[in-house]
Amino acid sequence: MVVASTYKLGMAKILVIDDEVTIVQMVTDALRSDGHEVHPFTSGNAAFDALDEHHPDLLITDLHLGRDGKQGLDLLRKARALAPPAVVMVVTAFGSVETAVEAMKQGAYDYVEKPFKLDAFRHSVQRALSYNHAVAENHYLKRQLREKYQFSRIVGTSPQMQAVFKWIERVAPTDSTVLILGESGTGKELVARALHFNSARQYAPFIPVNCAALPENLLESELFGHRRGAFAGALSDKRGLFQEAEGGTIFLDEVGSMPDAVQSRLLRVLQDHEVRRVGDSAPGHVNVRVVAATHESLERKIKEGKFREDLFYRLNVLPIQLPSLRERREDIPLLIANFLRNKISPRSGQAFRITRRAVETLGAYDWPGNVRELENILERACTLCEDDFIRMADFPKAIQEGAPASARLQPGGRDETTFLIPEDPADGTPYPLTPGQQAKAQPAAAGSSLPFKIEPLKDFLREQEHNYLNRVLAHTAGNKEKAAELLDISLATLYRKLSGETTT
Ligand SMILES: Nc1ncnc2c1ncn2[C@@H]1O[C@H](COP(=O)(O)OP(=O)(O)OP(=O)(O)O)[C@@H](O)[C@H]1O
Ligand SMILES: [Mg+2]
Repeated sequence: MVVASTYKLGMAKILVIDDEVTIVQMVTDALRSDGHEVHPFTSGNAAFDALDEHHPDLLITDLHLGRDGKQGLDLLRKARALAPPAVVMVVTAFGSVETAVEAMKQGAYDYVEKPFKLDAFRHSVQRALSYNHAVAENHYLKRQLREKYQFSRIVGTSPQMQAVFKWIERVAPTDSTVLILGESGTGKELVARALHFNSARQYAPFIPVNCAALPENLLESELFGHRRGAFAGALSDKRGLFQEAEGGTIFLDEVGSMPDAVQSRLLRVLQDHEVRRVGDSAPGHVNVRVVAATHESLERKIKEGKFREDLFYRLNVLPIQLPSLRERREDIPLLIANFLRNKISPRSGQAFRITRRAVETLGAYDWPGNVRELENILERACTLCEDDFIRMADFPKAIQEGAPASARLQPGGRDETTFLIPEDPADGTPYPLTPGQQAKAQPAAAGSSLPFKIEPLKDFLREQEHNYLNRVLAHTAGNKEKAAELLDISLATLYRKLSGETTT
């Protein structure tokens, strides 16, 4: 699941370690009363082991933890090696600045000298947490950018895929509900991501949910959240994925398997943009775009009484049918080149090539599992082949048997000798199969027809921040004091940010 960060500002998981019990108690009480989840320790060794289990947002540790066992620096190093790393604040005895400097060098964010005033201490904690929050956001944005880039790897020059690209371009910027139809492995999820990452929602979460993977009651509370005590096992309030996806897109995969009760709730979201948590009486407003997908015929499900007709009409606003791979065989060489060059070879560090005969054979197979099956067959062949060359023999029997006449070996004929080097389908022609196909092959259109700007991350972040501030200001009707309060920053900081100065 994609969420902007692991905790909301103001509520964090914190490990506190000091060999002086009174200090641990005082700090723990103070931070708990601020709403944080605090785990106190007086032994370095116990805290060291607990780091894995708790994976805190913030570690606050004394540097000297008794004579034996793990010391503050050991904890610091381990906390910084977690993924994502915890922010570390060290507590030092008065006057031992050198050890504090050493700790900072090893990755501590801040240090506090004993004895300290509780107010100042709390302030330092808040600063460290804001820092962690900003770092988490930053990781998140980088990941989003990466995913977005990968989208330009939807491969296909066939007229069917060109139509799909055109459609994505037209539909992505709208807020309409989209229903993606297609056999298993035709790229439904890839298209759903493309819709999200080419819309104004791209910097908010994209959350995929497989509706077939969870039993009814679990799916319901996953999607819509629940109130504590709503049912046995609901030990605390839980936000639903619709709320997590606020501002973004939720991808409801296998929507045909959605149980009846969940269908009714979804209908309400689509009609009124409202979600009601399980056990809650009042609904809340959500701003989430719904993209759904199914490999089943929803019309048939309606006839069988398993899918609500009214929901179908709500989902079916902008349907898109993805072609099966056998309907667009001319894309097979491009896809092979794409997988070998851009996925399998970089992962394995080997530059795989494939024989012309093997490419022709793959081009003739029926691909009931579509692109996913093709990708799997290539992965398997790359694992099986003895060198970097993929030959017919590296494919399962069923595929070998379907080889076209042109790819069959004549008795006494020479074995596969023409090896093709996959070129980047985005750069040019991958495999010259026949002169006719070669002439037709064009650079994959997705990257060029759906461009995005690459810029330094700090410019990107500044722009995002600016947009966000303006949104909050719109919400407060231009009242800067109120906006600063909502954003939990000082008015001066808000002014500075609005004037375009960066602070990070
Ligand atoms: N046009 C395409 N270009 C490149 N890769 C593709 C294309 N279509 C599908 N793929 C790849 O094939 C695999 C399957 O795609 P995806 O998961 O989007 O299919 P799906 O329709 O959601 O399948 P399923 O119904 O089995 O969930 C993925 O690894 C995806 O990257
Ligand atoms: Mg899928």
